[in-house]
Amino acid sequence: MKFIVAPSIFSSDFFRLSEEISKVESIKDSWLHIDIMDGNFVPQISFGSAITKTIRKHTDKVIDVHLMVKNLEREIELFSETGANYITFHSEETHFPLRMIKKIKSYGIKAGISINPFTKLDYVDFILPYIDLLLIMSVEPGFSGQKFITETKNKIEKAKFIRRDKGLNFLISVDGGVCEENALQIIEAGADILVMGSYFFKNNFEEIKTFIETLRKKLTK
Ligand code: DX5
Ligand code: ZN
Repeated sequence: MKFIVAPSIFSSDFFRLSEEISKVESIKDSWLHIDIMDGNFVPQISFGSAITKTIRKHTDKVIDVHLMVKNLEREIELFSETGANYITFHSEETHFPLRMIKKIKSYGIKAGISINPFTKLDYVDFILPYIDLLLIMSVEPGFSGQKFITETKNKIEKAKFIRRDKGLNFLISVDGGVCEENALQIIEAGADILVMGSYFFKNNFEEIKTFIETLRKKLTK
C-alpha cells in the first residue's frame, strides 16, 4: 500500500518558510498542502494566491491547494495562475459543484471536492465520477492542532468501497488531526494521502521522517 504525505504549511514556522518546505522536499512521495482560509468560510485568514505562486517558483513538489473560502469562482481564477496541481473546494460552499470542477479542469488543474465531518458522503455521491480527489475532513476546518474525529474512518472506508464498486479512480485524502497514533489505521481504511499539519511541523523532524519510513516499510510487507 502506497501513500502520499501532504504536510500543511499552515502549521509551519512562517518565519522560516523555505527551511520548512525543504523538510517536505526531503520526504519521498510528498506533496505540499496549502490551506487557503479567507476569514469568511472559516474564521482565520492564512495565505492567498501570491504566496502560493512564490512557493511554486521554488519547488517541483505537487501543490495541493485546499480552498476554505466563500468566493469560489473568483478564488479558482486566482489560483489557476499559481502553478497549483490540485485545487480542492468545499462541497458545503456551492450548489454548483460541477461548474466548479469544470472551471478548475479548464485550466489543466486537477479538481478535488471536500466534505466536512458533518457532511455525509452521500451528499457528493453523484459528483465522484468527475473528481480527481476527495478530501475527507477529519476535523472541522479552520484550525490546525485539533483531534482526529474517529468516526471519519467509516467514511474513508465507504469512499474506498464506492470507488471500487463504481470503477472510479479519485484519490482519497484525509485532513485533520493525522498523527503517529492514527496514520496506519487511516491508510488501512483507504486513504491515499495523509495531510499532516501540526504533527509534521511541530515535532522533531528526524523522528517524523523515521516514522514515515517505518510506516512505508510496514505497508510494503
Ligand atoms: C484544517 C486544515 C488542515 C489543518 C491540518 O482547517 O485544512 O490542513 O491545518 O492541521 P492538523 O494536522 O494539525 O490538524
Ligand atoms: Zn487542509
